[in-house]
Amino acid sequence: MAEIAAGRGLTYGCAVTAKLLEEEPQFAALVAQEAGLLVPEYEAKFAALQPEEGRFDTAPLDALLRWAEHFRKPVRGHALVWHDALPGWTRAALAEGRTRAMGVLERHFDHVLAHTRLRIRDWDVVNEPVANPPGSDVPEPAGNSGDLRDTPWLRALGPDYVAIALRAARQRDPTLRLTLNDYGVEADTPPAEEKRQRLLRLLRGLRARNVPLDAVGIQGHLQMREPFRAEVFRDFVRQIRALDLQVLITELDVREVRPPSGDFPARDSQVALRVHAFASAAFEGGARTLLTWGISDRWSWLYREQAVALDPGDVHRGLPYDWELNRKQMWR
Ligand code: XIL
Repeated sequence: MAEIAAGRGLTYGCAVTAKLLEEEPQFAALVAQEAGLLVPEYEAKFAALQPEEGRFDTAPLDALLRWAEHFRKPVRGHALVWHDALPGWTRAALAEGRTRAMGVLERHFDHVLAHTRLRIRDWDVVNEPVANPPGSDVPEPAGNSGDLRDTPWLRALGPDYVAIALRAARQRDPTLRLTLNDYGVEADTPPAEEKRQRLLRLLRGLRARNVPLDAVGIQGHLQMREPFRAEVFRDFVRQIRALDLQVLITELDVREVRPPSGDFPARDSQVALRVHAFASAAFEGGARTLLTWGISDRWSWLYREQAVALDPGDVHRGLPYDWELNRKQMWR
């Protein structure tokens, strides 16, 4: 896929884990063959990199970076500031207030950005800052006002935490591409429309204040039960592009309504049609990079987290390769 994409001026990549690259030769072979860009699924998150205060553990990320270097594949970073994958000590430290929180952020950025400088040239500096509107699958708790999600970072540093993080990254590495990544803005539903507006307001605010930012990542965790309208999504991508920001699709996969066993051809063609509509709209809008969150249903987080007890036939079929490592229509 990497070569086909490159021939069209696009980049295709996928999320990987160091463990799968090491322990599953079939996974590693698929990634080696298909991906032109990698992103660590876990290894560059806060809890992975600094499990205890001041103790940085870059070994799993380093292993992933060595593999990528061997196959000459660029790697993007994910994620410096996020409310999830925060180790307990960080939550406690952020609750101590602004000065302490600034110290935590600066030390993490100092260490991580220096360590990865030569190998990672694009980071999700802030992940999922926008609050889920009412009606979302996971709405924000009542009482939270404003466009930003209520997180330990927001509580410690205020709504300015997004700008603080972006400036801190730019200051440490002036040519690093700074990306803000979020989800829930893809579908043709009222909550997704409201979340699009929230994200656009955030981006315009950052632009108006000259906060450094180069790109927006749209995760693309699609759900078959949600309606999708290509023009709506394409225009949203255009609106981001109009702010002189690049757009990347960073975590594409598809959840089926309730994965029913059997009739794979019918399911796979539904998924492929949705992915085609989504990816085409993204590219028409001006996106040039698309990553899937994994490459085969066999190792998808959707399987790991939601269906561990199920038969492989009940797994969501929302990635380019199926459980048996056959290419699906989505690949095409
Ligand atoms: C997920 C991983 O895939 C899981 O293995 C982990 O347990 C939780 O995080 N949005 C993101 C990703 O930005 O970091 C998430 O990854 C999926 C949703």
